Amino acid sequence: MSYFEKIKNLPLAKDPIIMGIETSCDETAVAIVKNGREVLADEIISSATEHARFGGVVPEIASRTHTTAILTATERALKSANLSLNDIDAFAVTEGAGLLGALLVGVSFAKALAFSTGKPLVPVSHIRGHISASYIADKKLEPPFITILASGGHTAIIAVDDYYNLKVLGSTLDDAVGEAFDKVARVLGLNYPGGPNVERLAREGENVIKLPKMLKNYDGGDYDFSYSGLKTAVINYVHNQQSKGVEINKADVASSFQHSAIDVLVDKAFKAVKECGYKTLAVSGGVGANGYLREALEKRAKKENVYLVLPEKRYCTDNGAMIGAEGYLQYQRRNFADLTLNAKAVVPLK
Ligand code: KG4
Ligand code: ZN
Repeated sequence: MSYFEKIKNLPLAKDPIIMGIETSCDETAVAIVKNGREVLADEIISSATEHARFGGVVPEIASRTHTTAILTATERALKSANLSLNDIDAFAVTEGAGLLGALLVGVSFAKALAFSTGKPLVPVSHIRGHISASYIADKKLEPPFITILASGGHTAIIAVDDYYNLKVLGSTLDDAVGEAFDKVARVLGLNYPGGPNVERLAREGENVIKLPKMLKNYDGGDYDFSYSGLKTAVINYVHNQQSKGVEINKADVASSFQHSAIDVLVDKAFKAVKECGYKTLAVSGGVGANGYLREALEKRAKKENVYLVLPEKRYCTDNGAMIGAEGYLQYQRRNFADLTLNAKAVVPLK
């Protein structure tokens, strides 16, 4: 019997223990998650410092670092959960979106583990993984809820109608919010990864620089965003001041940018909660680690009596636990892949 024929009829485990493997960008992440909610182990080996001197992720370096780090991350995860490979009921892996060469390391590694143990291989969308991090953050969280998806590649307001059905209410028409943070960081001379460094600098500044208004309303697309105008305005402001020989207050630039970039996310998210008649709002993606965003959401949630789910910062940025959590949902549906599974640079938002 071939691997897949055997897997197809395998009975589902009760309280499944799923390994989540994530290698879409510069984090080699392996976690072990029970029942989609309980994190038994969570290991991350980041190659961020190796990319820092280039000002952004170098795909080739990311892939090579995954190749050397993935076994270590897996062994550490098993050790810290006090489990062996045979205790794992399924291997969930990010199939996309992300850097192809980087994804392929995780996909190939997960295939080898699934094949050698005779357990299912579960393909997971990175985007759905980010959203499912909220099930780890709040063990009782159930759909429906609204989530803000804010990462380096995506910005969207999504209605999670049930565990499987996502409705994208609006998304960015151009750059993602994390991407804007990274580009603003670069023009301010801050190191990669830009987001946390812009946030740090913004704490010392004030929102005093006039930047263009974000899309408050967009014809037929109230929940859409546009970050490229804001990003360009910041870059132009910095270059103009420099060409005039005027010294810029970088902290004020960071603070003004952060206000513009984040306030619109908060406004649109609460608008969606209200309009959909939902009671819960969650946050997903790396920008969810932003302290200014978290504080603004907390304040507003209290005022508007909305139940807020804020995953720990480490579960907002890329991690293996979110892949294990989403892997659990796909496992329950028997969404198993055969050994021809390939990496995908892009996956649909839904
Ligand atoms: O979700 P993520 O780890 O990877 C993607 O799927 O893209 O998100 C990474 C993005 C980067 O653009 C990074 O600058 C941004 O999230 N980010 C932040 C913060 N931490 C990470 N942006 C603003 N403030 C932060 N504290
Ligand atoms: Zn991500």
